[in-house]
Amino acid sequence: MPREVLPFSQSCENNKAFIVEHLATIFSDRSAVLEIASGTGQHATFFAGMLPTVRWQPTEIPANMASLEPRCRAHTGGNLLPPVPLDVCSRPWDVDIPDAIFTANSLHIMPFSAVQELFQELGQRASLGTILAVYGPFNYNGQYTSESNARFDIWLAAQHPESAIRNFEQVDGLAADAGFALREDYSMPANNRLVVWCKEDKVSSE
Ligand SMILES: C[S@@+](CC[C@H](N)C(=O)[O-])C[C@H]1O[C@@H](n2cnc3c(N)ncnc32)[C@H](O)[C@@H]1O
Repeated sequence: MPREVLPFSQSCENNKAFIVEHLATIFSDRSAVLEIASGTGQHATFFAGMLPTVRWQPTEIPANMASLEPRCRAHTGGNLLPPVPLDVCSRPWDVDIPDAIFTANSLHIMPFSAVQELFQELGQRASLGTILAVYGPFNYNGQYTSESNARFDIWLAAQHPESAIRNFEQVDGLAADAGFALREDYSMPANNRLVVWCKEDKVSSE
């Protein structure tokens, strides 16, 4: 039988080994991870395989579930949960919120209002001690960290006017408002970051 051609992202292939090195530590004491904006499922299937003690829940917006489902279906490990639809703007989210959340390359794609919704939902529903790990590009003090990120931002704006590399300080402010304190900000290959917050405080009012 011919093998199904699965949706594919080259950047996922390039970054997944570097990311999981950190996730192995960050999520070492966690039993379940909610992934937001799972895309093709390359991260979900790889991370589930590499972190066998964690149940990995992939999600996508309803319109992109068809990109996520085939690879998840083809995966054989028992700790990958069937993908479920999740749009961060459709609140309250119709998923359980475990004490570990991961998302990659999503905050610069979704509109900033959606980034706000994401943090507000976690502010209201995540329990104390929840770890949130976000992978992707960030600007610092309003500056690009590289020429290639500056070019990428122009390309992003051409794809969608509300997509943009986010300012780290602004996102960290949303996290703080939601009760999340910054734990780590790892430098990653290709001018990306892996930012880790932990919920330590009471929920702020929305
Ligand atoms: C560049 S892709 C990243 C996919 C994958 N995480 C990766 O690293 O390759 C951005 C993803 O964000 C998702 N997304 C956009 N708006 C969203 C929203 N409101 N809620 C949840 N996901 C959203 C898109 O459907 C898309 O799959």
